Amino acid sequence: MAVSFDDERRVFFISTQNTSYQIRINEYGMLLHSYYGALVGKADMSYLIKEVDRGFSGNLYESADRRGLSPDTLPLEYGTYGSGDYRVSAIKTVLENGSRTLDLRYASHRIGHGRQAIRNLPYVRDDGRTDVLEIELEDRISGIRVILIYNVFEDKDIITRSARIINGSENSVSLIKAASMSMDIQNRHMDLIHFHGRHAMERITERSALGHGVYTVGSKRGQSSHHNNPFVILCDRHADENFGDCFGFMLMYSGNHAEEIELDQTGSVRVVSGISSEGFEWKLGAGESFDTPEVIMAYSGEGFNGLSHLYHRIIRENVCPARFRDKKRPVLINNWEGTYFDFTEKDILEIADAAADAGCGMLVLDDGWFGIRNNDKSGLGDWFVNKDKLPGGLKAIADHTGKLGMSFGLWIEPEMISEDSMLYREHPEWVLKDPDRDPVVARDQLVLNMSDHEVVDYLYGCISGILDSAEISYIKWDFNRSLANVYSSVTRADMQGEVSHSFVLGTYELLERIGAAYPDVMIEGCAGGGGRFDAGMLFYCPQIWCSDNTDAINRLIIQKGTSYGYPVCTMGSHVSISPNHQTGRETPLVTRAIVAMSGTFGYELDPRKLDDNEKNEIRQQIAIYERYCDLICNGRYYRLTGDEDEKCYTAWEIVAGDRSEALISIVVTDMKGNQELPFLKLKGLDPEASYVIDGVMSSAYELPGAAKDETEHADRVYMGKALMHGGLTLDPLYGQYPAMQLHLKNTVAKNDVMD
Ligand code: GLA
Repeated sequence: MAVSFDDERRVFFISTQNTSYQIRINEYGMLLHSYYGALVGKADMSYLIKEVDRGFSGNLYESADRRGLSPDTLPLEYGTYGSGDYRVSAIKTVLENGSRTLDLRYASHRIGHGRQAIRNLPYVRDDGRTDVLEIELEDRISGIRVILIYNVFEDKDIITRSARIINGSENSVSLIKAASMSMDIQNRHMDLIHFHGRHAMERITERSALGHGVYTVGSKRGQSSHHNNPFVILCDRHADENFGDCFGFMLMYSGNHAEEIELDQTGSVRVVSGISSEGFEWKLGAGESFDTPEVIMAYSGEGFNGLSHLYHRIIRENVCPARFRDKKRPVLINNWEGTYFDFTEKDILEIADAAADAGCGMLVLDDGWFGIRNNDKSGLGDWFVNKDKLPGGLKAIADHTGKLGMSFGLWIEPEMISEDSMLYREHPEWVLKDPDRDPVVARDQLVLNMSDHEVVDYLYGCISGILDSAEISYIKWDFNRSLANVYSSVTRADMQGEVSHSFVLGTYELLERIGAAYPDVMIEGCAGGGGRFDAGMLFYCPQIWCSDNTDAINRLIIQKGTSYGYPVCTMGSHVSISPNHQTGRETPLVTRAIVAMSGTFGYELDPRKLDDNEKNEIRQQIAIYERYCDLICNGRYYRLTGDEDEKCYTAWEIVAGDRSEALISIVVTDMKGNQELPFLKLKGLDPEASYVIDGVMSSAYELPGAAKDETEHADRVYMGKALMHGGLTLDPLYGQYPAMQLHLKNTVAKNDVMD
């Protein structure tokens, strides 16, 4: 059992394979956080908690003589508002008499095996080995109870946290903040790493030393957002990719969120993660309860690569729908950047022919196939085929791709509506809109009220109608604006603060119903690229379009940032044409393919416009991807380069689970004359095994007249330990954004080893 309770010392011990987490109940029923970090077994770590009398940090009434015992300075497991803890609170309530004070103390606990699903929310799926700790806290005056829920995935070094808030009083209570967790990490000088961005430039990694005060990362856009991913890392100042303590907190939620990090007067760091309290107010009638989304927590003493491996595994194995876990993802061709809205049925069929000829396995028809949709100003909501553009309907295309041996996928954007649409003319009351104001428009579209069951039912009918009309095996589920004027015409005035969260629940319900009715249809998430790239969406959609930016050089930053929390198999990544449509930059086709291959690979162009050389190159790329796709999707991913290297080049490596092979990729981003040599220290190989390079793909340009390195020979054998400790020096890579992909294969011919 990964969870135990020491009755005498009143300590909860949670242990995973490599980590320990401890909580202590003190003599006044306060729940204290004693430890999270490397495995310490049953050593009671509450000796780390010191009672220090600090001025202006008050005391419990019943322990007034123990001035060091203050809710303001002790490490707490769930911070409340109004009872003398002045740090960021995890929960705030308003009682019927107007009181905002809440004082939660231990009431009971339960230790068990097998986790429960969270009502109406995504969660980390049980694999039959989950242990559970539930600690019930109670405010004795109001009767409000909070159950802190810990699910322990012992062999995966993951602990999840969520909270169930119960109104045990006889009156109604307003919940105005309901975070999933809070935790106080004592006496640490820490850095915060988070992933900020914007449309077409998502999940840029930013690291800053924590200063005093509160640092909030979050979104109030109704979506997890391009701007701040609901994932943060706290780490020691010296931690890097391969060394040092780091803690991850990933909220499994797709709506408004906040990660608040406070460095307090004592030098401790509090982290609070959950639904954002901005605009949030949930009414709890007597006996009613509220469930928060789940936070996936991980600790690694082996730097960020170690932390990423824990997240990659849990997401691949316990978050994404299991039925797609080992299913090979087809190399797809998407027509968006190839045609935008301007296509006919003939165009699409020809694109399918050319793509099949190159070896693609699926055609995805993007925006513009329905309603009156020749640009982004109209048509959203009218989910029926535009017969002017596609006289044979979806069936004609699906039948055609079927004959070519390809599958067929389709773009939809269910939660949105254009004012210029039949649906809006029929149901103007179905949108989120303040009754007395003009709505904020974005991309000329409004947002449907997903908190209204009638809307969800209607959309279910539309989507199932589409899926029943043709052989469709994939949906790209888009979401192209942020929410504003969050007001629901079917909700009571005093419950409008619930709408943002109910909106997310409505979307989850729709995804759940579609997934249950059409289990073989794979849904790819998308929100103007990666505006909803979160573990909540991944529960329904095993992959998400990473960004609308397909520029290979920008993608290095976007995909690297994404890789801290999310595995390669979740990142939609395509080769588009050069010059790139988002940046105007020119890059070689090979470089674009090498970058797109560290994702769910595909093409986003019009294959009819390629010349014969390009077509041949693409054929080879697809063959290479097919050869390595199992390694790419299931291998261990390592970031090989840091800030200093990345002034010139970025490199990464994917190693097979059994360490029998590895794929190393490097892209040069800044070209210098007479350059320093690219140098990589490889990771994760078998130190005692020998490897050969048995595959090279490169876009490097050979300088005219440059002499060859005479010491180089292709059949060299390298020891794993040599490549990891000594590293690998590459020849200079010249050209415009040259890239190289090397495939290492374990050889049994150990005699040949040159060490
Ligand atoms: C979003 C998506 C794109 C494309 C367009 C279509 O921006 O991210 O890939 O589907 O919508 O309108």
